[in-house]
Amino acid sequence: MSDNPRSHHMNIEDFRRNGREAIDWIADYHRKVESLPVLSRVRPGEIRAALPPDPPAEGESFEAMLRDVEEIILPGLTHWQSPNFFAFFPSNTSGPSILGELLSAGLAVQGMMWTTSPACTELETHVLDWLVGMLGLPEKFLSTGKGGGVIQDTASSASLCALLAARERATSGASNEIGCDGRLTAYTSAQAHSSIEKAVKIAGIGRANLRAIEVDSNFAMRPDALAEAIARDRREGKVPCFVCATVGTTSSNAIDPVRAIGEICRDAGVWLHVDAAMSGTAALCPEFRWIQDGLEFADSYCFNPHKWMFTNFDCDCFYVVDRAPLIEALSILPEYLRNQASASGAVIDYRDWHVPLGRRFRALKLWFVIRHFGVEGLRAEVRRHIDLGQTFARWVSEDPRFELPAPAPLNLVCFRLRSGDGQNQALLDRLNASGDLYLTHTRLDGRLTLRISIGQAHTEFRHVEKAWARIREEADNL
Ligand SMILES: Cc1ncc(COP(=O)(O)O)c(C=O)c1O
Repeated sequence: MSDNPRSHHMNIEDFRRNGREAIDWIADYHRKVESLPVLSRVRPGEIRAALPPDPPAEGESFEAMLRDVEEIILPGLTHWQSPNFFAFFPSNTSGPSILGELLSAGLAVQGMMWTTSPACTELETHVLDWLVGMLGLPEKFLSTGKGGGVIQDTASSASLCALLAARERATSGASNEIGCDGRLTAYTSAQAHSSIEKAVKIAGIGRANLRAIEVDSNFAMRPDALAEAIARDRREGKVPCFVCATVGTTSSNAIDPVRAIGEICRDAGVWLHVDAAMSGTAALCPEFRWIQDGLEFADSYCFNPHKWMFTNFDCDCFYVVDRAPLIEALSILPEYLRNQASASGAVIDYRDWHVPLGRRFRALKLWFVIRHFGVEGLRAEVRRHIDLGQTFARWVSEDPRFELPAPAPLNLVCFRLRSGDGQNQALLDRLNASGDLYLTHTRLDGRLTLRISIGQAHTEFRHVEKAWARIREEADNL
């Protein structure tokens, strides 16, 4: 931005005016989003066809840009912020989060090291320590001891970093030096998120060395099967190095038994990572902390405020009990990054805690969210969503045409018509084509299953009630 009339930059007074317009536009969008068809209806290529083939030679007005957002971009959006969005998992935002993000963009600091913006690092450390208490996580994750937390872009990155630290711990740093020798093995449940398989491929463990551990009738990892797999690999000369347990699987919200898995990992000396991407937020409420029973056995943990804690993408909180193996796995110190603060050992340099060097000031939006809602406000919103999930599950159980193929402990409910895959697919297609709501599916026991994920910030009883009415109506029409 500039006050110089000859500059090509946006004039500061224009920025003020445009900025207010942009905020107004966002506020209007949030007010009307409920009335928009949830799933975008454009055909492939339609958005590109509406865009000019070449970039403008001369600068254009902000008004023109905002107009094109309204006319060209908006129809091509699936409205994740609609209270009728029940697909995949929530991708929350909120007023304080948006404003924190805006300030972060305005400050545009690059917090790769403490010295490049001390507040960027220290606020992050502080807020992540707050969350240890807010979620009832083991105190070993606090930065005041050997551990600590860091904001990663995604749970996928957090799991990758956990795996890299586990790999280096298991090989005493040899994998970083000479590469993997094909003997390392990793374990996760057959229902775990695909990001674990991706991490195993990226980390050079090899997909053939990832064991998909059987699940029980609740789709949770079977600890006996895990223990057997580790023992078998040991007998065959493999080196088990990493287990990922899931608290709230993507497919059905299954909660792996962290305590039993943790005891096995402790006895076997294997790194335990716990992925609580969406469901970890439930632990804000003491009555739901049973989901993380046994977390004291974990070496690392992550959950995503960008899913269900009203903080916009991206924001994953990743914790380690011991930061040394993580830093040893990821640290490289070229001459141009050397500085006195780092050399003193008195500061955290988060560049060593994740894959990229550069990092945005993401703690700002998380800090704003926590301060705006307060712990009690966050708890109330989470309880509301879980309550809605439980109500929906009860409605399904009372309709003889439908069944609940998996437990629904929190805010995600899997359900299906008893009449088979064809009917369930038709039901899903009709509902999503209507624009009234958006649901997605999974497969449980090989059968097509619908999921309703209740966690969009403004979903209320009336939205869930309407969703259930529409589901029954379309089921009647099949
Ligand atoms: C259990 C679980 N783990 C990991 C992920 C991946 O999240 P992210 O997009 O933050 O990598 C998801 C998202 O679907 C998830 O549900």
